Amino acid sequence: MSPRRIPVDADAVGRREVPLRITVDGEPLDGIAGQTIAGVLLAAGRLAWRRGPSGAPRGVFCGIGVCFDCLVSVGDERDVRACRRRARDGDVITTQRRVGNGFNSPSEEEE
Ligand code: FES
Repeated sequence: MSPRRIPVDADAVGRREVPLRITVDGEPLDGIAGQTIAGVLLAAGRLAWRRGPSGAPRGVFCGIGVCFDCLVSVGDERDVRACRRRARDGDVITTQRRVGNGFNSPSEEEE
């Protein structure tokens, strides 16, 4: 998975882009229909959006839904693999952090 996109006017396939906007931890990010959530994050320059138990940054590792490194919450749905879920216009994404044996969003840790 690459963070780089081919500009639409340079794409030999002649694709059309349908823009979308998601919100990640309150930050609006623009993407195009068909991108995964991870694709939108990578295209926005975010290489990591989660921390493992050791504090090490996590983002896309396998990119195929096997490793769990890219987990995010989408609305009320937790533990969504960002590399497997296509972004939908209006998605509200919350990044997660692993605490103990579970996953918590930063906002839950503050409670
Ligand atoms: S990057 Fe491995 S599950 Fe998403």
